[in-house]
Amino acid sequence: MDKRAIARNQEIEAAVADVRQIEKKDGVTRASLEKIKQRLMRLAARQELFTSADYPPPQPGSKRNSCLYRVSEDTDHRFALYVNSSDGNYGTPAHNHTTWAVIVGVSGEELNRFYDRVDSGVKEKGNAVVKQGTGVAFMPEDLHSIHIEAPLINFHMYGLALEELHQREYYKAEERAWKVFPPHSDIREARS
Ligand SMILES: [Fe+2]
Repeated sequence: MDKRAIARNQEIEAAVADVRQIEKKDGVTRASLEKIKQRLMRLAARQELFTSADYPPPQPGSKRNSCLYRVSEDTDHRFALYVNSSDGNYGTPAHNHTTWAVIVGVSGEELNRFYDRVDSGVKEKGNAVVKQGTGVAFMPEDLHSIHIEAPLINFHMYGLALEELHQREYYKAEERAWKVFPPHSDIREARS
C-alpha cells in the first residue's frame, strides 16, 4: 500500500473511532450529530486524500451519475461511511433515513433542501450547500433532497449501513404518495 493509502486509512479509522465515541457518550441528538459533523469535516479537510482519481464517478452513460464507495462499516453494519463521487446532474426526491445521517463536503457542491412533512406531502423549510468546510446532519425522521449539478466528492455517514435500511421513505410528487426508498444501486466496496 502506498503512503497516501496508509495515511487515508489511518485518518478514516481515527475519525470513525471518534464518531463511535461521540454517539456512545452523547447518544443521538442534534447536539451529538453536530459534534459528529465537526469531526467528519476534519476528515474532509484532508482533501488531497479523497480525489476523484481515488474515487472515480460512474462512467459516462451509466444508469446514474453518482456512486458510493464504502470506506468503513462495523461488523454489525453500524457506523457506515461512504465517499460519494458524482459527475454532476444527479438528484433525489425528498426522503428520510430511519437512522442518523451526516454529509460533509470534500470538493464540489451539493445543494440540500430540507422539508417538513405536511398533509399534502412535503413543504420546503430551507436549504444549505454542502461543500469543503460545511456539512448537514439529520435525525432519523428528518427529510431532505439532494441536488448535484457539477462533479463532486463528499462523505455520507449513516448510523446504519444503507443496505440495512428497509423502511426509508421518499415522497413521489407525481403520485402525491410516500414510497419506500430502495437502497442506492451503485455501492462499491472500498474498505482496505
Ligand atoms: Fe439522504
